Order: sequence, then C-alpha cells, then structure tokens
Amino acid sequence: MRLDVHTSLRTFFIVAGGLYVLLVLACAILPAASMERQYPITQEWVDPRVERGEQLYQSYGCIYCHTMQIRGDERLAKEGPDGTLVVPVLGADRRFGLDEPSRAEEYRNDDPPFLGTERIGPDLLAVGIRLPSAAWHYWHLYDPRAVSPDSNMPGLPWLFHTEDTQQPEDEKVAPLFDLDVPKGRLYATPDAQALVEYLLSRTRPESRR
Ligand code: HEC
Repeated sequence: MRLDVHTSLRTFFIVAGGLYVLLVLACAILPAASMERQYPITQEWVDPRVERGEQLYQSYGCIYCHTMQIRGDERLAKEGPDGTLVVPVLGADRRFGLDEPSRAEEYRNDDPPFLGTERIGPDLLAVGIRLPSAAWHYWHLYDPRAVSPDSNMPGLPWLFHTEDTQQPEDEKVAPLFDLDVPKGRLYATPDAQALVEYLLSRTRPESRR
C-alpha cells in the first residue's frame, strides 16, 4: 500500500494523527509509566494544619531566602556495597548536617515543592530534625533576633498575641532557656501554630535519616 499523503486528505490525517499518538506515547506516557514504577509516589494524608502552614510559608515569601534542597555532587558518585549509586552531599551543602542529597519522593506531599534558589538563610529541607523545638520556632518567628542576634530575617509578630490580647484558640508559648520575655507572655495564634507545625513536619523518611 502506498501512503500518498500529498493527494489524499484522508491518508494525510491518518498519518499525522498516528504520528501524534506515537509521539505522545513515546515522549510522555511511556516515560511517565516507567518513572511511576521506579519511584512510586504515594501521597500521604497531610494534616490540614501542616497544609495551612505550607500556604503561609508560600504567602510570607519564605522561599525568597530559604531553599529546601540538598544538592549531590555527581562527580564524586560511586557504587555502594549493594550496587546502587551513592552520591555524596555537595561540599557547600554539608553544613546543613544531612548525609544524603534530597530525593524526589521527599517532595511527594509538597504542593508546590519550595526548592528555592536563594540562601539568605539556611536550607530548611529537614529543619524539623535540626530544630525540633516548637518553642524555639515560636520565639524565632516572633523575633528572629531574640534567638539569633545577627539575623536579618523579618519577624512575624502579628502571628502572636500577648497576655492582654490572647484568644481561646491560642497556644501558650513555653519560655526558652534564659530568654526572658520582656514583652509579656507570648501566645501563638492558630496561624503561628500551623506554620511551626509545617516546619516541624520537615523531616526525612525514617529509613533515610
Ligand atoms: C530576608 C530573608 C529571610 C526571609 C524572608 C525569611 N528568612 Fe528565615 N532565616 C533567614 C536568615 C538569615 C536565617 C539565619 C539566622 C536566623 O536563625 O534567624 C534564617 C533562619 C531561619 C530558620 C532557622 C534555620 C536554621 O537551621 O537555623 C527558620 C526555621 C526560618 N528561618 C524560617 C523562616 C520562615 C518560616 C520564613 C517565612 C515566614 C522565613 N524564614 C523567612 C532569612 C530569612
């Protein structure tokens, strides 16, 4: 059979349509199916408070100063004992204390993932492991310079109440070591609680710590 695409409109559309379907299969559907087998992405149930915290992280522009990605140094990759490729953490990223570069599945619950491009502040990929104290985060968010004197991070004091303005749904913030509260006792509003919940949820999958 001759495929005369020049004179037969029908053949032209069949050939063009066939090529289109083939291309979609080869470039999108088959690669996606093979990725799905290789790295199955199962979304876990996410606490609505963590989700709210994620929205706040986005709306307060934390991403402009923080990344959430630990890069690997491909040049130093070598084969591990079980035959898989082991990529060490890039030298510049070792200061964040994680021994493995980030992997795709660590972002499975993130919508969108906040990889970030600027590091005015430290990487927050697993900040929940490095800084597991809610009280520290509350004080830091309320007034970054109270816990980190040279910080240029903007505080979010409007997410907190004091003794006079506290509401029933607020959470009393525990005092932090010798940091006394010159401004009266601190109470975290539900939004402050959500943001800290989100930060504390930033850990790595158990087996990979
Ligand atoms: C103008 C840049 C800037 C912005 C915007 C910013 N940060 Fe920071 N952040 C910093 C800097 C600098 C530090 C390091 C000093 C410190 O601890 O305050 C820091 C530190 C931190 C730390 C402690 C990390 C560690 O490992 O010590 C956390 C947690 C954090 N920021 C969360 C946030 C959140 C949440 C937001 C958004 C509400 C935010 N930051 C917005 C600059 C910023």
